[in-house]
Amino acid sequence: MAAELKLYRGLARQLGALLDGERDCTANAANTSALIQLGVSDLNWVGFYFLRGDGLVLGPFQGGPACTRIPLGRGVCGTAAARSETVRVSDVHTFHGHIACDAASRAELVIPVLADGRLVGVLDLDSPVAGRFSEMDQQGLETLVRVFVEATDLSDWLA
Ligand code: SME
Repeated sequence: MAAELKLYRGLARQLGALLDGERDCTANAANTSALIQLGVSDLNWVGFYFLRGDGLVLGPFQGGPACTRIPLGRGVCGTAAARSETVRVSDVHTFHGHIACDAASRAELVIPVLADGRLVGVLDLDSPVAGRFSEMDQQGLETLVRVFVEATDLSDWLA
């Protein structure tokens, strides 16, 4: 079995156990970002932005202080949110409109958080290593986002 497949299967199991019995969004987002920070190598930032009105607002994360508000369509996060699609960038220097929160970041992966097909926010991962995120990383992290969504009360966004 490929190393990444094994890694993400293990992380999905651990995340399911970690979130079991708790449905609060802040608590689950905090523990999800902490588990990913511990389990995935070469990250300098991982965390959530949640949809508030017509923009994204910073949620629980691991890493240095980050920009608090991102309009839809702006930067890698706003682009993933506007398209409701994962955006994987090998080198952020080549992504027009990238928002630099940490000058060390080179690769970025942003996965939309969708509940019943509606946008709730995004999970954002930054790495100082160009090309850090493979297709396998993307699939594994999309699975972790699904585990988070299934475990969490996101009714604020579904009302
Ligand atoms: N680089 C992101 C902004 C958020 S930080 O990386 C934490 C972007 O371009 O959307």
